[in-house]
Amino acid sequence: MAMTLEQAKGKLAAYGQEHVLKYFDELAPQEKQTLLDQIEATDMSILDACMHREDLVQKGAITPLAAMQLEEIEAGRASFEAAGIETIKEGKIGAVLLAGGMGTRLGSDDPKGMYDIGKTRKLYIFECLVNNLLEVVHRTDTWIHLFIMTSDKNHRSTTSFLKEHDYFGYREEYIHFFQQEMAAATDYNGKIYLEEKGKLSTSPNGNGGWFVSMKNAGLLKVLHEKGIEWLNIFAVDNVLQRIADPCFIGATISKNCAVGAKVVRKNAPDEKVGVMCLEDGRPSIVEYYELTEEMRDAKDPNGDPAYYFGVILNYLFRVADLENVPGGLPLHIVEKKIPCLDEQGNPVKPEEPNGYKYENLVLDMIHQLDTCLPFEVVREKEFAPIKNRTGVDSVESARALLERNGVAL
Ligand code: UTP
Repeated sequence: MAMTLEQAKGKLAAYGQEHVLKYFDELAPQEKQTLLDQIEATDMSILDACMHREDLVQKGAITPLAAMQLEEIEAGRASFEAAGIETIKEGKIGAVLLAGGMGTRLGSDDPKGMYDIGKTRKLYIFECLVNNLLEVVHRTDTWIHLFIMTSDKNHRSTTSFLKEHDYFGYREEYIHFFQQEMAAATDYNGKIYLEEKGKLSTSPNGNGGWFVSMKNAGLLKVLHEKGIEWLNIFAVDNVLQRIADPCFIGATISKNCAVGAKVVRKNAPDEKVGVMCLEDGRPSIVEYYELTEEMRDAKDPNGDPAYYFGVILNYLFRVADLENVPGGLPLHIVEKKIPCLDEQGNPVKPEEPNGYKYENLVLDMIHQLDTCLPFEVVREKEFAPIKNRTGVDSVESARALLERNGVAL
C-alpha cells in the first residue's frame, strides 16, 4: 500500500521535515503520489547526524600494515599469475564497475564514462576500461561477468550509451547493470532540499553501497549460480587500471586474505590518497585528511615511511566474507552543491556548496574484514585517475600517462 498524505505528515513531523510539503497542493495527482512515494522511501533517520559531523569519524589505534611490494611480487609473479588465471578460468572472478558517482569535478552533464579522452579519434573512458578488461578475457579465453553500478541520475544515459556502442566489444550476456540507492540531500541544518516542487533533492548514497545494492537487485543469486567467489571492484575514473589482474588475484588468494587492495607508493608524504593501515588490529584505511604528523613521519623497520601505500580504489573482495559482515558502514557527510528551489520556488543550481550529501564509502568495507593484502602496483602503469579537466588527476594528466603506456589517442 502506498503511503497516504496523513502517513507522510506523520513521518515528516517525526524528523522535522514538514517543509517538503510546501507546494503539495499545487501538484497534479500523479506528482503528489510520486512525492509521497519518495517520502516513504527516504531514510530520514540519518540526517540529524549532520549536526555533530565531527563525531562521525572516530578512529581506533592505528599501526602500520605491510604491503606486498614490487620485489616480492616480481619474485612470485609466475606462480601468482598461474593461480590467478586458473581462478578466472574456473569462473570464480567477477568485476564491478562503480559508475554511480556524479563526477561533478569533471563538470560534464553526462556520466563520467561517456567522456571522450581521445585526441585524433574517439576514445571514451568506458571504452578504455572495457579494453583493459578484454585483455584479460582474451588472455584467459574466459568471459568475466561485469556488473555495472549506476544511480538514478545516470542509469538511463549509461545503459543506452553502452548499448549504442555495442558495449565496446564486450558480450552483452556478461554485463549486468544495477542501481545504487539514493540519499536525501540537505541544507546545513539537515533540512531536506526540494529539487522540484514535487521532488526531494537526492544524491547517490556513496560508493560503499554497492554490495547492498547488488543484493537488493537480486544479483547475489547470480553470483551463487555462476560460482563467482571474488569481486574486483573498480572506479570509473582510472583509465590505466588493470581489471581482474591475474597476478593480483593469485597473490590475494595465496595469502588467504579476505580482500586485496591495489596500492601505489605515495608521491609525497602529503599526497591526497587514503593509506592502508591497521586500526585496532584490523585492516583499515586512513584518509589523507585524517593523517596525523606522527603518522606521516613514522618509519617501518627498514627505515621507509610506515604509511606510504595509498589506495587507488581497486579491490578484490571475497564474496563469502562480505556476506558474513555484521552491521552497516559508517556515515560520511560531505559538503556539496545541491540543486534546489529558491524562496519563490524557482529552481537554482548553486555555484558554491550549500549543504550536505550523505554517503557510505567502499574504503570503510576494508575495516569490516579480518585480513587484507595491500598489493603494490607501479603508479605510472596503473594509476591515471580522471577527476578534473586540467591539472592534477585530470584528463590532461591521464592522456599523458596513456600515451606513455602506448595507448594511441
Ligand atoms: P569519486 O569519489 O570521485 O566521486 O568517486 P564522484 O561523485 O564520481 O566525483 P565528484 O567528487 O563529484 O567529482 C569514485 C568512484 O566511486 C563511484 C564513482 O563513479 C567513481 O567510480 N561512485 C561515487 C559511485 O559509484 N557512487 C557514488 O555515490 C559515489
